[in-house]
Amino acid sequence: MENKKLWAGRFEKSTDEMINEFQASINFDKRMYHEDIEGSIAHAKMLAAQNIISADDCKKIVDGLKNILEKIDHDEFNFSVDLEDIHMNIEKSLTDSIGEAGGRLHTARSRNDQVALDTHLYVRRQVVEVQKLIVEVEKALVNAAEKYRSVIMPGYTHLQRAQPILLAHHLMAYFSMLSRDLDRFKGVYDRADIMPLGAGALAGTTFPIDRQRVANDLNFKNIYNNSLDAVSDRDYILEFMSAASILMIHLSRLSEELILWCSREFSFIELDDAHCTGSSMMPQKKNPDVPELVRGKTGRVIGHLMAMLTTVKALPLAYNKDLQEDKEGLFDVIDTIKFSLAVYAEIINGIKVNESNMLKAVEEDFSNATDLADYLVKKNLPFREAHAVSGKIVHDCIAKNIYLKDMTLDDFKKYSDLFAEDIHEAIKPETCVANRNSFGGTAYHQVEMQIISAREIIFSQENFIEKVN
Ligand code: ARG
Repeated sequence: MENKKLWAGRFEKSTDEMINEFQASINFDKRMYHEDIEGSIAHAKMLAAQNIISADDCKKIVDGLKNILEKIDHDEFNFSVDLEDIHMNIEKSLTDSIGEAGGRLHTARSRNDQVALDTHLYVRRQVVEVQKLIVEVEKALVNAAEKYRSVIMPGYTHLQRAQPILLAHHLMAYFSMLSRDLDRFKGVYDRADIMPLGAGALAGTTFPIDRQRVANDLNFKNIYNNSLDAVSDRDYILEFMSAASILMIHLSRLSEELILWCSREFSFIELDDAHCTGSSMMPQKKNPDVPELVRGKTGRVIGHLMAMLTTVKALPLAYNKDLQEDKEGLFDVIDTIKFSLAVYAEIINGIKVNESNMLKAVEEDFSNATDLADYLVKKNLPFREAHAVSGKIVHDCIAKNIYLKDMTLDDFKKYSDLFAEDIHEAIKPETCVANRNSFGGTAYHQVEMQIISAREIIFSQENFIEKVN
C-alpha cells in the first residue's frame, strides 16, 4: 500500500517522520475499528439513499468495508502509522481495494464527526459490558450476605467499634453502592446515545444528508442539535470516567476493609489461597494483593478523569487535536474497571469468614453500650441521662477490666433502680442486632428484606441490560 497522505493536496513537503509518529493515534484508536466500519456502512447507505452516491458505489463500499472488517478480525490487516488513525487506515485500504468508489465514502463527512461517532458507539457498547460485570459483583455480595446472614460483627465509626451489626448488613451496603454505580452508567449510556455524524468538520454539510436515517440505522435515540457541539462534546467521556471513578472508589473502600479484615490484627476473614501471593523472603506471608491492586488502580482511574477534565477545560470550539488525548485514558479506564470488576466477583466468592472472631470483637468490647442506654430510655429515663449512666458504667468496667455482660444485676442497680432481670438479655449481641429493626437497619428482618429486594433489583437490571444489548 502506498501511504501518501489522504490530505496531501495542499502540502509541498511530506510530514517529518518523528512528527508523523507523534501525531498518529492508530496504535490506540485501532480498537475502534468495528465502530468505524459500522459507522461508515451506515453513512454510505444514507449517501446512496439520498442519491449523493450511486447504489452501485454504495454496494462496493459496503462489501469492501465488510472485507476489511474480516481482515482486521483475523489479524490480517496492516495498520500504518503514516495513515495516522483508524479512519484513514480503513479509508485508504478501501480505496486501494475498490478504487474510485472508495474515494466517495468521505463525502459529507469529516474525521471530526467520524471519530465522535466511533467513540459514542464504543462507549455505549462498553457501558453495557461494565454493567454486566457490576451485576456479577452485586450477585457475589448478595450471595455472601445470604451465606453469612446471621454472623455478627462490630460496626465501626472512626474505625472504633461502634455498635453490633450483621456482616450481611455491611455487605449489603456495598450492594447499594454498586447498584447506584449501575444506575450512573445508565445515565452515561443515555448521554452517549446521541448521534454526531452529519456535523461535518464543524458547520454541517452542503449535501442533502439524512441524519435521522443514520441514527436509526445505528440505533441512536437522539441526534446532536448543534454541529459545533457534536464535534466538540466529550461530556460523555467525562461522565464515563466519573462514573468509573466513583465505582472504583467503592471497590477501593471495600478493598481497604478486606485488607484490614484479613490482617492478623482483625482476623475476620481469610481470602482464598488462589487469590493471594506469598513473599519471596518471608515464608509466613499471604498477601491480599488483589484488593491492594484494585485500591491502587483507583488512583489511576481518577487520574485519567483529572487528565481529561484538564484537557477539555480551555479548549475553544470546535475540534482541536487535543481531543485525540481522550482515547488512551478512556480505554485504560475501561480496561481497568472491567478487569477489577471481574476479579472482584471472584474475590468475594472466595472469602472465608471467621465468625467466632467477629463475634469475639463484639463480646469483648463495649459496642452494646448504646443498647444499655436505650434500655434505660425504654424505662422512661431521658436519653441524655441514660447516656451518662451507660458511659459511667463503661468507664468503671474498663477500670475493672470487665465487660457489661460480666456485671451482675446488683452491680447494675448501683447505677440505676431502673435495671431489672431483663438487662442481660437486652445487651446480648443478638438482641442488639435484632432490636435495630427500623427500616434499613441491621435487624435480621431488615437485612432479609434488603436481600430480597436486591434479588429483585438484580433481576430487573439483568432484564434491562439484555434489552439494551
Ligand atoms: N485521530 C483523530 C482523533 O482521534 C481523529 C480526528 C482528526 N481530525 C483532524 N481534524 N485532524 O481525534
